[in-house]
Amino acid sequence: MAFKGFRYFFFIMVLACLGLAFFLLKFIDICIYSQRRNFLHLPDIDCRRTPPFLVLLVTSGPGQLKARMAIRQTWGKHRLVAGNRIVTYFLLGITTKESDLVDITFESQKYRDIIQKDFMDSYYNLTLKTMMGIEWVHIFCSQSRFVMKTDTDMFVNIFYLSELLLKKNRNTRFFTGFLMMNAQPIRCRGSKWYVSEAEYPASTYPPFCSGTGYVLSTDVVSQIYNISESVPFIKLEDVFIGLCLAKLKIKPEELHSERTFFLHKVGFSICLFRKIVTSHKVKPYELLIYWEELEKSKDEKCPYV
Ligand SMILES: *[C@@H]1O[C@H](CO)[C@@H](O)[C@H](O)[C@H]1NC(C)=O
Ligand SMILES: *[C@@H]1O[C@H](CO)[C@@H](O)[C@H](O)[C@H]1NC(C)=O
Repeated sequence: MAFKGFRYFFFIMVLACLGLAFFLLKFIDICIYSQRRNFLHLPDIDCRRTPPFLVLLVTSGPGQLKARMAIRQTWGKHRLVAGNRIVTYFLLGITTKESDLVDITFESQKYRDIIQKDFMDSYYNLTLKTMMGIEWVHIFCSQSRFVMKTDTDMFVNIFYLSELLLKKNRNTRFFTGFLMMNAQPIRCRGSKWYVSEAEYPASTYPPFCSGTGYVLSTDVVSQIYNISESVPFIKLEDVFIGLCLAKLKIKPEELHSERTFFLHKVGFSICLFRKIVTSHKVKPYELLIYWEELEKSKDEKCPYV
């Protein structure tokens, strides 16, 4: 009788311990996941439950609402492409303007697509902005497969990009975009890209991809995040990422045999824009027109494809 009672007691204890352990693990999980890590605004997504195929991170300034709206209506519209989830988020810093703070809070609550931290939003803080995006993916969305970093004044053909990524089928240590090989620091003062010898002493940069649009497999994001602190800071964000890649011994590669990433503004034509990934210097109203034209002609064939 006593033995039977003990067995029963033992069974209950084991059950209680298991329950407690489960509860604790769940609790720790929730704590880790919900920590905000100094982010002022975070997008509304649970990447563990709905892992995206591609996360687009768009560096943007508080004053660029018009451009963000155009992106939200065109390539930045959350959607499935051939069953693959694509999400677009904007990376922002802060300004000293009181009204910006209020406006961004309103915008973030409405669209839930803003990632913001407490640093001054300026051209020379672009590296901080990009690293904020890298940190966000590392902490909140390492379940995604690819990440693209791009800008607010860009056209991005997410359909063709997805198609090429699937075709390429490189899921680790992959980095692509408009390749910059043997680029040299610009030493003349007054240039937007001026870099002093003190900031960067070597005469060439390691291979990198233009910040207008580069794409990487998500494992590289975590690796960049991990080593970024040991890489000397440089205000040119794309060069900084290149320095991280060099340290990780990851070589940027072409996505396709034809050029698909463009640094300049490509003149619009439906057939051309179907077969490019990025074009630069696109104004919000142009983006809306391009997109409408592309949607309208979706079922039309192009002569040479
Ligand atoms: C970058 O952000 C930091 C933190 O807000 C600020 O102290 C610094 O002045 C900013 N740098 C530039 C060049 O704006
Ligand atoms: C982070 O970097 C250290 C060396 O700096 C390395 O030992 C470690 O494996 C890295 N971790 C990841 C997850 O890449």
